[in-house]
Amino acid sequence: MRSLVIFSLCFLSGLSSLVSGASVPRYFESQPTTRRNLTTEQVRRELSSQVSPGTLIFGPGDAEFANRTSRWTGFSKPDVRVVIEPVAESDVSAIVKYCNRNSIDFLAIGGGHGLAYSLKRFSGLQISMRQLNNIAIQKNSKSAWFGGGTVVGPVIQYLHDRGYVTTTGGCECVGMLGAGLGGGHGRYEGLYGLISDNIVQLRVVLADGKAIVVSKSSNSDLFWAMRGAGHNFGIVTSFEMNIFPVGPKTWHWHNYIWRGKHLERVFAAINAFHNNGKTPINMAFEVGNFVMDTSITSEEPVLFWSFVYRGPADEAEKLLAPFNAIDAVSSTMGDVPYSQVATVQGTSWDSPICQHGNVHVTSTVFLQVYNLTTERQIFEGFKRRAKSSPALAAQSFIMHEGYSTEAVDKIDAASSAYPFRSDYHLTLFDAVVPSPEYEPEARAWAAEVRDQWMAGQPGRKLDAYVNYASGLETAPDWYGHESWRIDRLKSLKAKYDPYNRFRYYNPIIAA
Ligand SMILES: Cc1cc2nc3c(=O)[nH]c(=O)nc-3n(C[C@H](O)[C@H](O)[C@H](O)COP(=O)(O)OP(=O)(O)OC[C@H]3O[C@@H](n4cnc5c(N)ncnc54)[C@H](O)[C@@H]3O)c2cc1C
Ligand SMILES: *[C@@H]1O[C@H](CO)[C@@H](O)[C@H](O)[C@H]1NC(C)=O
Ligand SMILES: *[C@@H]1O[C@H](CO)[C@@H](O)[C@H](O)[C@H]1NC(C)=O
Ligand SMILES: *[C@@H]1O[C@H](CO)[C@@H](O)[C@H](O)[C@H]1NC(C)=O
Repeated sequence: MRSLVIFSLCFLSGLSSLVSGASVPRYFESQPTTRRNLTTEQVRRELSSQVSPGTLIFGPGDAEFANRTSRWTGFSKPDVRVVIEPVAESDVSAIVKYCNRNSIDFLAIGGGHGLAYSLKRFSGLQISMRQLNNIAIQKNSKSAWFGGGTVVGPVIQYLHDRGYVTTTGGCECVGMLGAGLGGGHGRYEGLYGLISDNIVQLRVVLADGKAIVVSKSSNSDLFWAMRGAGHNFGIVTSFEMNIFPVGPKTWHWHNYIWRGKHLERVFAAINAFHNNGKTPINMAFEVGNFVMDTSITSEEPVLFWSFVYRGPADEAEKLLAPFNAIDAVSSTMGDVPYSQVATVQGTSWDSPICQHGNVHVTSTVFLQVYNLTTERQIFEGFKRRAKSSPALAAQSFIMHEGYSTEAVDKIDAASSAYPFRSDYHLTLFDAVVPSPEYEPEARAWAAEVRDQWMAGQPGRKLDAYVNYASGLETAPDWYGHESWRIDRLKSLKAKYDPYNRFRYYNPIIAA
């Protein structure tokens, strides 16, 4: 039993600014009859002869629909009317062409973790990439091909089982391309760079449904754009990335919980430890949260910090000595193979951070160093909410990430659309909203913390990593404040996506 899928969408609005002067191609010809009320059945009937067997179609009446449209955050939930899960690149082309013929908006979905508020503006057909999840290590063992729907966890596992690693995001649940098309930060960036820095080539279905190769030698202008601003240009059906031998047998991890009274010492030690982008290369990653732990205290958040080192405990502990000297409520450590590092840092599939279905109100500022005054203000703000709004404070967290960044720094910033190579600390304010009446308060808190981070770095502009951005910032905040970047991206939009079909993820050209 399937209910009607109603496409009462204003499909053609927002296109006008880009069509002026040009002759309208077939795919945006105004239809003699606008397909406003299309049913899942109709889509199924009309598309089934054009796609490969195994392609799945779900409508709101299907039992699986909720599962297939489930997302990490309800804050930016797109309005999905029908879900299609292709099995081949040719299916993606066929679906895009079908959508164009019928004036239906489409959106590719990878891991379902996108937080950009702009996603909320989407209404139409979701192209889920999950069946395009093949991985194939190439004969020379220097690279592998990945399907456009591959997710971090299985990528780490598959490669590790065969003696390889590559650059990924840190959380197992995130899509390789959702992350990688915007850069992609992770534990291997100090050694090998961002996800996008290791992409050799991409196979891309453009807005008109045509499939092309994008690399240094093929559509090289688009290759520049897709490594940093890629969500705006096409649907990647597969991609080739560098891979590397697995390296040391184990990584050392050390997790600390400190009380707030030590905050200044902790941040001073972190600033010294990173020394403005000079983090020891194997000191791969630390993530620190202000978060409530009522088993310790319900008065204020604690500082929960987790460090991982690529190599043995003795080397790591030498570097961690300044942190060991700070009196901790809890200090635990161990050594695990790389494939288990996500688990010990609380970023694996079953960690709370990967859980779907909450409403997250976020803000972010990419920093160079921590300002101790600022961090104290932010901590005290959290402490106030712990008293005034315990339900809002309960699951909220304020995240501080520090990476080893040598390989990211080494790459010429002009060589791709990723703009922020001289920022070292990714932050994320994340209020988990217990019920809708808390949303205004959460938004005010998110803005307050963002403003505090900004006030703590006078003279610097808001750098909002495109994948952590709330979507409430501006295009230069996501894509770089040098005007040539936006100019170049806009001219590439005119060339490759003249009708702005890809405008739902922190759009270069506002919808
Ligand atoms: C819990 C959590 C952990 C995170 N950890 C990290 C991290 O370690 N490092 C990091 O850099 N970022 C991280 N992020 C941010 C993450 O990069 C973004 O949220 C990203 O958008 C998620 O991608 P997705 O595929 O999971 O989400 P989706 O919502 O499925 O996709 C996000 C956007 O990417 C587009 N997209 C997805 N697949 C394709 C494709 N094949 N072709 C074209 N476009 C595509 C979608 O159209 C959408 O616009 C994290 C986010 C969360 C919520
Ligand atoms: C689409 O369906 C809705 C609900 O069934 C109906 O109210 C509306 O008039 C229909 N629109 C068109 C253009 O047929
Ligand atoms: C969807 O269903 C699959 C298989 O039944 C399950 O493994 C997966 O966790 C579900 N996903 C969500 C987001 O609920
Ligand atoms: C740190 O933050 C405070 C408060 O916003 C600000 O006044 C000060 O200038 C900042 N210090 C530095 C070194 O940027």
